[in-house]
Amino acid sequence: MFVKHLTLSHFRNHVSTEISLEPGVNLLVGPNGQGKTNVIEAIEYLSTLSSHRVAGYQPLIHKDALSAIVRLKVSHAERDVLIDLELHRDNTNQVRINQSPIPRIRDVLGTVNSVVFAPEDIDIVKRDPSNRRNFIDQLLVQFSPRLAGVMTDYDRVLKQRNTLLKTARATGAKGSSLSTLDAWDESLIKFGAEIVAERLVLLNRIKPYLTDAYQAIAVTNNEPTILMKSSLLGAAVVDDFEEAELEYLDLMDLERITELFRNKLTNVRTKELERGITLVGPHRDDLVLLLGDLPAKGYASHGESWSYALALRLASARLLRDESRTGDPIVILDDVFAELDSVRRDRLASLVADNEQVIITAAVREDVPQSLQAAVFEVLKGEVTRV
Ligand SMILES: Nc1ncnc2c1ncn2[C@@H]1O[C@H](COP(=O)(O)OP(=O)(O)OP(=O)(O)O)[C@@H](O)[C@H]1O
Ligand SMILES: [Mg+2]
Repeated sequence: MFVKHLTLSHFRNHVSTEISLEPGVNLLVGPNGQGKTNVIEAIEYLSTLSSHRVAGYQPLIHKDALSAIVRLKVSHAERDVLIDLELHRDNTNQVRINQSPIPRIRDVLGTVNSVVFAPEDIDIVKRDPSNRRNFIDQLLVQFSPRLAGVMTDYDRVLKQRNTLLKTARATGAKGSSLSTLDAWDESLIKFGAEIVAERLVLLNRIKPYLTDAYQAIAVTNNEPTILMKSSLLGAAVVDDFEEAELEYLDLMDLERITELFRNKLTNVRTKELERGITLVGPHRDDLVLLLGDLPAKGYASHGESWSYALALRLASARLLRDESRTGDPIVILDDVFAELDSVRRDRLASLVADNEQVIITAAVREDVPQSLQAAVFEVLKGEVTRV
């Protein structure tokens, strides 16, 4: 799929921006702080309902405005779809697809598929587990938007269960609160086991793509692998999961994962009541990104970590191309080329060039290989002009 037209109104520093994009490569250039990343963030937001830079949406609204509008015309299989998003400071946000309002915002997921690589992605490799969980969950939702609902349900149950555990801790666990806990356990297990199983299936699917992407982009030829370190496994060392013995979960059978989850919850019940918090489940799991036989986190060099993060995104794009209903995702590379030497610039260029649409940002035009300079736009002070 590709973006034909993008309209931004009071989105970040774009007061009123119209851009007609081309299939193939689009390059946004301009000095630092002019609004290049803001443009791609708008596309990213309509695609995932999240931004790689902030948690909420308030910062996306222009500082002097009460609301922002993002309007996107995307084209897939010769059909155009018009998506309108209104973000309001003090009101409910709204999405329209082909002019019709949709009841829940999250129903827009799956309409626009994109894969964004941004410098912040190095956090997936180097920082805490939540970055890796977000990576896999965001990709899961692109394949099956329905899972966004399961994840929301899981988070809701988790929150309520934690509240109950906290109350039980404060007042002493009594019969009635324990039976309520049992009921929450069932929902936690139902939604949680599905998330764990889906993550494992996806990891398995992405592995071969990751190997190819890493070898194409990196200078060293270590093999990348991803394993899941799950809180459903292991001894009772649950309060210090980071330090727990490495045990990897690799079965994909929903029933067996459900069983594991149920047993583990029984085992940690006393501890949970002591601590007042849910100690096991997909919210505590982690992906271990291995390079050769060492985890990239804590061992890989800066360059290797960076290549790993880029490979994760390139692999995601290829997997979506091969297996999603909507075909090629929109591939977005934010500020990538400045980091690369000329050999790797050319390699990356040939890796992405055949996507239906690629959107690239760069502060210095010369950093981007000539082959990618098809449609060029200049971004200055929140205004975009085709050059
Ligand atoms: N809500 C907002 N309202 C007004 N301006 C904003 C808002 N959010 C961000 N900005 C401004 O947008 C600019 C940053 O834009 P952006 O991140 O797109 O820059 P960029 O062109 O990608 O720069 P770089 O090359 O450094 O990555 C900053 O000047 C920032 O102050
Ligand atoms: Mg930027």
